[in-house]
Amino acid sequence: MGTNLKEATEIKLALAKDLKSSQSSAEVDILQTKYLGKQGLINRLFKTLPIKTDPQIGRQINDLKKFVETRLQEKLTSVLTTTDKTHFDVTTPGLPIPQGSLHLITQAIEEIESIFLHLGFVRRRYPEVDTDWYYAEGLNIPKDHPARDDQETFYLSDTTVLTAHTSNGQLHEMELKKAPPIKMINIGKTYRRQLDATHTPMFHQFEGLVVDQGLNITHLLGITDYFAKSYFGPDRRTRLRPHHFQFTEPSFEIDISCEVCRGTGLIDNLACKVCKSGWLELGGAGMVHPQVLKNGGLNPTECSGFAFGWGVERVLMMKTGLPDLRLIYGDDLRFLNQF
Ligand code: PHE
Repeated sequence: MGTNLKEATEIKLALAKDLKSSQSSAEVDILQTKYLGKQGLINRLFKTLPIKTDPQIGRQINDLKKFVETRLQEKLTSVLTTTDKTHFDVTTPGLPIPQGSLHLITQAIEEIESIFLHLGFVRRRYPEVDTDWYYAEGLNIPKDHPARDDQETFYLSDTTVLTAHTSNGQLHEMELKKAPPIKMINIGKTYRRQLDATHTPMFHQFEGLVVDQGLNITHLLGITDYFAKSYFGPDRRTRLRPHHFQFTEPSFEIDISCEVCRGTGLIDNLACKVCKSGWLELGGAGMVHPQVLKNGGLNPTECSGFAFGWGVERVLMMKTGLPDLRLIYGDDLRFLNQF
């Protein structure tokens, strides 16, 4: 097939020159008419060259036409995306707007809150900076008690602290309500002098307080079990382990059965690597100490109560298997964008 159609070569050369000097879509439009329009250069070839007698010529002009079309289209795309700001194509899809999402901890807090709201709890927030009375003295923690250790606690002055637990909310709630029934979930920030893979200086706790007539440990267990099944899954179980807190009597640590070994502590006859014993520690709980009820203005002969205080980061790590808390509070968007 002959490719030496003189006119085709001339048109290609002219086109190259024209493309080089066009900077806008309007200029490309003009070239479109010049080359491909009814009266354009290509059509003129169809009319003037002997295509009837030599079908090769017709084919070559068609090839040339395709070539010109492609080059003009390329040029149009390139001016639109680079230099030509005057052209606005309303049909072009918009640029995606980067979407934010709630932080992992906020999501966990919302989930925890909704579980307790289902049980009729009221959500509360109490001060993160509080006085010695609410934070310690009123909770039966005397001046010389190790829980006052300033190795652990951020003291702001002799009598004010950054709260190291949310239990200060217990006395505030009793003062606010003045009488049972009380059923609150206080979720807030807490502070301790600590920093490693599973502890940060600022973290969150959710503190439950229920006070009414005739409450006992089985009520506490019922709530604990409901929370474990709702948050972690229906096969999870809970257990109480004796413990000591100044503001509850009796006091417990609550454990949740390990998901991996299903509470047996064994996987293929070897110790489960996740929990070692079949159980994972959730946090502290107990029956409210009568002295604390008195300190909150309630009469311990007329009512009783239970309380618990668990870590938001802790339950989140237990649920997700997240290995290092510092990821949560870091600024690595590759991690944070996944949630
Ligand atoms: N305040 C305790 C802690 O931070 C937890 C707790 C809360 C224990 C309520 C008993 C009752 O470890």
